[in-house]
Amino acid sequence: MPTILGLESSCDETAAAVVRDGREIAANIIASQHDLHAQYGGVVPEIASRAHIERLLPVVREALETAEVDLRGIDAVAVGNRPGLIGSLLVGVSAAQALAWALDKPLIAVDHVRAHMYAADMTAAERPAYPALGLVISGGHTSLYTLTDPLTMRLLGRTIDDAVGEAYDKAAVILDAGYPGGPRLDQLAREGDASRGPNLPRSLLDARSLDFSYSGLKTALLYAVRGKPQGRGPDAGFTRSVADLTNQQRADFAAAFQDAAIDVLLCKLDRAIEQLTAEGQPPRALLIGGGVSANSLLRQRARAFESRRGLPVCVPPMKLCVDNAAMIAGLAWHHLEAGQVSPLNIPAIATTTY
Ligand code: KG4
Ligand code: ZN
Repeated sequence: MPTILGLESSCDETAAAVVRDGREIAANIIASQHDLHAQYGGVVPEIASRAHIERLLPVVREALETAEVDLRGIDAVAVGNRPGLIGSLLVGVSAAQALAWALDKPLIAVDHVRAHMYAADMTAAERPAYPALGLVISGGHTSLYTLTDPLTMRLLGRTIDDAVGEAYDKAAVILDAGYPGGPRLDQLAREGDASRGPNLPRSLLDARSLDFSYSGLKTALLYAVRGKPQGRGPDAGFTRSVADLTNQQRADFAAAFQDAAIDVLLCKLDRAIEQLTAEGQPPRALLIGGGVSANSLLRQRARAFESRRGLPVCVPPMKLCVDNAAMIAGLAWHHLEAGQVSPLNIPAIATTTY
């Protein structure tokens, strides 16, 4: 029964987890840095890497204590080494290299995006069947995949501009909803009514496209709040500001944004299922992961989608939607089983192309 210690430090959560056999979560500790970045309205990479350095070892210690295991009881060390902020990734990668070397245990490099989809698999009441359709919706990704197993996937489509989480974060700034943007906008939207908000576009691209585009929705929201920009060059300006909206109107605008943002995701899922079915590879489950899978409307619509399509839909519990190390240690077990152990000199990789 391999016990794996997983580390995650790709963005602004410092996390460590202990997972047995890819599914049994003995500890899942997450130290969020939201308080450190709030005053800047977004993640400051240099602050994030410094905070990871301070927090990583205490988080590892807490994970081991919670799992009631000491370092000698660990069979392998896993780390999310791609993609992410390079300075942040390096902290987790260096720590994992040092631990694996000192303990003389295998080191396993894990892809953060695959791990987000695996979070949905490992927490499903019933093990999902493959091939599965995977949707990763986070601050950096809005991508659709078809997976033949947890380690093997093919990209079907992705955003051509902003990621959906990024659009949420920007919409939160436009509507002065607070920080962190995604959860705050979600909360504000729940007090609103989309039908009373502005009519916002759903960008679906070409009829068969499985790619996404969120920058038009963001700009449409900006203009709906502030009016179309007037003038040119240094004299350009807006006629209105968010302060001209009542609190109820802000909530209605947030609901209209959320409705449009989530509608597009569901529409692309329908398209993907139809196309894969036509190709003779119908998905047998849908795995949704990444920070935006914590969104209340997405979760509600995912349940409705499951009944409408008769397809099992796996969405992780809230603590495994956001960045965490349980998904890293969980997926690492599959790598270990497949004999995919990494060399000690693994790199940290900021961007991936799938
Ligand atoms: O997966 P994640 O923690 O980090 C990345 O890998 O990017 O996702 C973070 C993203 C942020 O853009 C955040 O605003 C968004 O997920 N998010 C949400 C919600 N909770 C987090 N977006 C919408 N509704 C939420 N409830
Ligand atoms: Zn993530």
